[in-house]
Amino acid sequence: MALSDFPRHPLLFGPSPVHPLERLTAHLGGASIWAKREDCNSGLAYGGNKTRKLEYLVPDALAAGATHLVSIGGVQSNHTRQVAAVAAKLGLKARLVQETWVDWPDSLNDRVGNILLSRIMGAEVELVEAGFGIGFKSSWEQALEDVRSQGGVPYAIPAGASDHPLGGLGFAGWADEVAAQEQELGVFFDTIVVCSVTGSTQAGMIAGFAGQDRPRRVLGIDASAKLDETRAQVAKIAHDTAATIGLGRDLRDDEIVVLEGWAGDEYGVPVQSTLDAIRLTGSLEGVILDPVYEGKSMAALIDLVRSGEIGKDSTVLYAHLGGQPALNAYSALFRS
Ligand SMILES: Cc1ncc(COP(=O)(O)O)c(C=O)c1O
Repeated sequence: MALSDFPRHPLLFGPSPVHPLERLTAHLGGASIWAKREDCNSGLAYGGNKTRKLEYLVPDALAAGATHLVSIGGVQSNHTRQVAAVAAKLGLKARLVQETWVDWPDSLNDRVGNILLSRIMGAEVELVEAGFGIGFKSSWEQALEDVRSQGGVPYAIPAGASDHPLGGLGFAGWADEVAAQEQELGVFFDTIVVCSVTGSTQAGMIAGFAGQDRPRRVLGIDASAKLDETRAQVAKIAHDTAATIGLGRDLRDDEIVVLEGWAGDEYGVPVQSTLDAIRLTGSLEGVILDPVYEGKSMAALIDLVRSGEIGKDSTVLYAHLGGQPALNAYSALFRS
């Protein structure tokens, strides 16, 4: 089967915007840096990368007769907020398990930002004490069971909509979208920089770009501080997605690149380079990044350009995957 054979339920405005970051480019003295903006890809609760992935899960949920979308994430999960928005749009219920993945001391952490938005959209939010992990969790199994025991039909969406047979399709489509936008704009992005945690964003991109004629680098930047798990999950989902969309060849190891060095010691906790990247991008471009994901991948982009690992003649596409609502739980970091 090809990607176009899979049903897609439109949730986005259309292709997400692509534009140059001219002042950041000038500041770094090249490479030429552009952004593709999943943070404003949809009118559903600010959108983001999960909204794009969910376009391919929704037809499956509707075909299954789901009454509830059931998912899991940290307290400030962008993913669960997007599940809540999609459930609201479809007239379904959202049941969200929000785990204490991040030991973050802000007293408003479980009241503002993403979790606030999910509550506004009518989701049933359950706070659970449990550490960070992208695998299957007992709290999530329990939530599914609860919905069943109340006579509902749950549709299970794993963390980040990643470890799901359809999880990589959204960003395989993103690769096609990039190619079409390159034609329109008359550019070629030889390097893509993308944040990775649950893996299917980067994995989908790898599978999608692998089917194109012109090779390019997809640099995943780990923000989980558990590099081996992230890399393994990206590799698994990339291979599965490539097979699902009928790539017709195996992916090579060198197509799966996840870099470490910018996550700090812990998922969800920004380090100095994260904060510097957020301030630099905000003050030069008016583009807002979050402290959990995009601040870390932008810190990597900046360092890789400065060190010459991304060459001055390179044209780089920064995948902005969303995530700004979480900033509300990190306000203390920006008071001075
Ligand atoms: C804003 C943002 N950026 C990046 C990511 C990482 O994407 P993925 O989980 O598909 O690796 C996520 C979700 O985990 C996110 O919410």
